[in-house]
Amino acid sequence: MALPMTTQLLLLLVWVAALRAALPRTDLLNVCMDAKHHKQKPGPEDTLHEQQLPCEKCSSLCLQSLEKCLLRCSPWKENSCCFLNTSQEAHKDISYLYGFNWDHCGTMEAVCKRHFIQDTCLYECSPNLGPWIQQVDQSWRKERILDVPLCKEDCQRWWEDCRTSYTCKTNWHKGWNWTSGFNQCPVEAACHPFDFYFPTPEALCNEIWSHSYKVSNYSRGSGRCIQMWFDPAQGNPNEEVARFYAEAMNRAGLSGACSLLLCLALTLLWLLS
Ligand SMILES: *[C@@H]1O[C@H](CO)[C@@H](O)[C@H](O)[C@H]1NC(C)=O
Ligand SMILES: *[C@@H]1O[C@H](CO)[C@@H](O)[C@H](O)[C@H]1NC(C)=O
Ligand SMILES: *[C@@H]1O[C@H](CO)[C@@H](O)[C@H](O)[C@H]1NC(C)=O
Repeated sequence: MALPMTTQLLLLLVWVAALRAALPRTDLLNVCMDAKHHKQKPGPEDTLHEQQLPCEKCSSLCLQSLEKCLLRCSPWKENSCCFLNTSQEAHKDISYLYGFNWDHCGTMEAVCKRHFIQDTCLYECSPNLGPWIQQVDQSWRKERILDVPLCKEDCQRWWEDCRTSYTCKTNWHKGWNWTSGFNQCPVEAACHPFDFYFPTPEALCNEIWSHSYKVSNYSRGSGRCIQMWFDPAQGNPNEEVARFYAEAMNRAGLSGACSLLLCLALTLLWLLS
């Protein structure tokens, strides 16, 4: 009688699958994406702290109390996917990172620009975006992020602070005129206040970088959404968020594996009958 033997084998397979699923997928945790400026592996960048520039050199980001610039990427200094030079560049208008011009419809206001710098820091420095990394076939990167659950307050604030600035497009990844080396509005795209192109916070955060973000209904501190900014003194809250979603993705994978095993079991039983 061969059946008990097959059953044993199946039980073993189920057991192995369950064991694997009990642990979060480590390949999704503490990783850097394969893109233009990222380090291969995350690690400390001790000098990602406050930059010693006088205020007049960094007016939009100066902490008047310290009379120097605070680098917005500093929360990631303990464990980061960005080098110091990338973090410094993230603070410049038209940096070498992407040659991107924030001021394509007149000067972007400082309250607005700080969110874009913070967004750049998260993208370049965070080692906690693994669950949302996808392969892409693009000349300038092999991987991108898709549908990162951004905490709703972070998006709301970004949108509110940018309402008084101007832009000419909804998707900032495509459709620019790059003939001058930096992005300019295409002739047919008129400059309007942000809320013309982004009527809601969701429109801004989800559409601007082709769905890199998908605004979450969760709040900052919930452990269920990614924070664009955090106080590093309390640790990096996005570590727990990445772990949670990596486990959830695993469970989804397990139910797939289980239905496969069920299929296999039925086939074997059918063959043996
Ligand atoms: C930034 O710094 C890293 C490490 O020091 C170096 O490998 C990289 O080439 C630098 N990038 C640029 C554009 O200077
Ligand atoms: C692109 O920009 C250049 C320089 O500003 C301009 O001469 C050209 O007409 C623009 N082309 C389009 C298609 O907008
Ligand atoms: C989002 O959360 C709010 C309040 O916590 C709730 O009222 C609302 O139904 C939620 N929306 C979705 C789509 O889950």
